[in-house]
Amino acid sequence: MEPTRWAGVARDGRELFTPNAEPGHRVYGEELRTAAGTEYRRWDPFRSKLAAFLLREPAGDLLTAPRTALYLGGAHGTTVSHLSDLWPASSIFVVEKSPTSFVSLLALARRRANLLPLLADAQLPERYRADVGEVEFLYQDVAQRDQVAIFTENADASLARPGRGILMLKIRSVTQRRPAGNVVREARERLGRAGFRIDAEEALAPFARDHVALAVRR
Ligand SMILES: C[S@@+](CC[C@H](N)C(=O)[O-])C[C@H]1O[C@@H](n2cnc3c(N)ncnc32)[C@H](O)[C@@H]1O
Repeated sequence: MEPTRWAGVARDGRELFTPNAEPGHRVYGEELRTAAGTEYRRWDPFRSKLAAFLLREPAGDLLTAPRTALYLGGAHGTTVSHLSDLWPASSIFVVEKSPTSFVSLLALARRRANLLPLLADAQLPERYRADVGEVEFLYQDVAQRDQVAIFTENADASLARPGRGILMLKIRSVTQRRPAGNVVREARERLGRAGFRIDAEEALAPFARDHVALAVRR
């Protein structure tokens, strides 16, 4: 097991791992492996777009631990469980609108004190901005038509200045017809108009088809 340039993330060949914050427990059936007295969880790039993004070796310090973070689209907690491993001292607010997924998130948050789940619609940040306050990091992975507007509206509501974020853009949720390149260019332009600079941009195929990851700051 070797260290990587992302604090806490280890790798063995092409496989990434995070130190397990709940030794002996799996979150989504992932492999557990012990090396030098530390138990690690394998971070599956087919299950987590963030792992797929890291395997593309993006530029920038995108995983520096923030004091507080807002994660939109937590689902069952696959990716956020790895952030929870990496950022033990952070407070990570996790927004999810599906009550079914939220049940899994709640169970995860009972075991991991740095996760703070909110059953809410990310399209309505005004409903939770008072609970969340100001965050240093914004992560979004929601398959919605207006993903860029959801990101910039949540940034306006809660992201500190300076602040960092990652937008996982699902192209086919934006349009079925227009070429992918146009959708990504338009997203870049809209993020630029909202005051964001793009630090890294990577297509996530073959792990997640039709997705582009954008690491941004403003
Ligand atoms: C692709 S899944 C997220 C996977 C997760 N980020 C991970 O990597 O473990 C997208 C999630 O976004 C949620 N979602 C979609 N629209 C949403 C919205 N407007 N507000 C909150 N959650 C939303 C869905 O219910 C779904 O659980």
